[in-house]
Amino acid sequence: MRVIVCDNYEKMSYEAARIFASQIIIKPNSVLGLATGSTPIGLYNCLAKMYENGELDFSEVTTFNLDEYYPIAHENDQSYHYFMNENFFSKVNVPEDNIHIPDGSTDNPALECKNYEKEIDRYRGIDLQILGIGQNGHIGFNEPAEILEPNTHVTDLTQNTIEANSRFFESIDLVPTKAITMGIGSIMKSKKILLLASGSGKKEIVKKLLSSGIDTNIPATMLKAHPDVTLICDREAYED
Ligand code: GLP
Repeated sequence: MRVIVCDNYEKMSYEAARIFASQIIIKPNSVLGLATGSTPIGLYNCLAKMYENGELDFSEVTTFNLDEYYPIAHENDQSYHYFMNENFFSKVNVPEDNIHIPDGSTDNPALECKNYEKEIDRYRGIDLQILGIGQNGHIGFNEPAEILEPNTHVTDLTQNTIEANSRFFESIDLVPTKAITMGIGSIMKSKKILLLASGSGKKEIVKKLLSSGIDTNIPATMLKAHPDVTLICDREAYED
């Protein structure tokens, strides 16, 4: 795992945006894996600026989001559909038909998961996947467990994740207890992975990630088995 430490959040976001932009410039029809959470917002802002300045064109790009709460309506302002539209898709020119986000409003989640995985495979995997990391080491919504699921699946959120994400909801009771998420195998099919970590709240997990072997109780350590992962973090999230 390559590690890039940046002075602050802005520099981390810009560094990630430069790598993301190079991917699109080299391959305009790239398949990009996108993440939610507060960490990638700066990256999305930088990309939107590059688009505005005419430096970047998303017209041939295809995107797959990592996860979505379940059940949740697309219009719910806490859904990842809403988040992605607010923070990214409304600001750039990714064609609507090329956007994939697991459907949190489906009444057949098992079929949704199966079709989502099939669709990733139809595109022969993701060229560049952006990831954040949960304080408990989750990636997407792959929570710490004895056994990790390879493919897109419905998962129960851990109490730690429900508490961490409750900051975005009016009350903790409104946080969905389940999600649809790409599995570890879906993520590992990506050709390149950019893992972002920012702020002192991530220091402990980043330290664990870098010092541990592969441990299903820290799902992000699975990335150590991938040949092309870059961790970009700010100084607050990294301890020398
Ligand atoms: C959520 C998302 C993850 C994200 C994590 C960290 O649980 N499912 O994909 O990485 O939050 O979020 P933040 O960047 O806000 O710390």
